[in-house]
Amino acid sequence: MLSSKASATRTDTNVKIHPTADVDQGAAIGAGTTIWNWTKVREGASIGSGVSIGQHVYVDTNVQIGDRCKIQNTVNIFDGVVVGSDVFIGPSATFTNDRHPRAVGEWQVSHTVVEDRASIGANATIVCGVTLGAGCMVGAGSVVTKDVAPGVLVVGNPARPIGNAPPPKRVRRVGDES
Ligand SMILES: CC(C)(COP(=O)(O)OP(=O)(O)OC[C@H]1O[C@@H](n2cnc3c(N)ncnc32)[C@H](O)[C@@H]1OP(=O)(O)O)[C@@H](O)C(=O)NCCC(=O)NCCS
Repeated sequence: MLSSKASATRTDTNVKIHPTADVDQGAAIGAGTTIWNWTKVREGASIGSGVSIGQHVYVDTNVQIGDRCKIQNTVNIFDGVVVGSDVFIGPSATFTNDRHPRAVGEWQVSHTVVEDRASIGANATIVCGVTLGAGCMVGAGSVVTKDVAPGVLVVGNPARPIGNAPPPKRVRRVGDES
């Protein structure tokens, strides 16, 4: 599944990039990472090991993504965003990077941090300049405008805390009792 366009720096060859993906050679991709159809990864982006990136995802220049993240289809991650490890980003979630955007004049990038084990629901919007704390969860369709504390569940527009984020589901293995 390796693409002729996909000549990014790799930490090993166990990287799968769909032929339709466009991965810049100035991007770094960690071992065992998979990048699916029509996804774009720009120069200077850094993606860790064991990451799954779905279809039609945009990873902008300078974006950093840790290890073992799951990034679902049609997610946008813009310059100024740093994503930790074991982070889930649901389908069509989008980040932003200029709090007061205009078509003319300069961009001013505000930085956003997603800490380890955070989860972002489908179609959520993360307004830039915030930190999503470790292990937090953002409900589907939420608009996050402020920091989310570690381990907290937020929902709505604007997103407000409604409790603790549910813990990860236990991995079931053959032989486990119900
Ligand atoms: C936020 C979420 C985790 C809450 O799930 P839950 O703990 O089972 O909570 P409940 O469904 O009992 O909802 C609790 C309250 O929050 C509200 N609520 C739940 N999800 C909401 C959301 N996304 N936006 C706004 N309100 C929401 C419910 O209506 C309920 O309100 P009420 O107490 O007034 O009736 C879940 O609804 C959600 O959005 N998950 C993300 C799903 C997703 O995007 N997955 C991506 C992979 S497909």
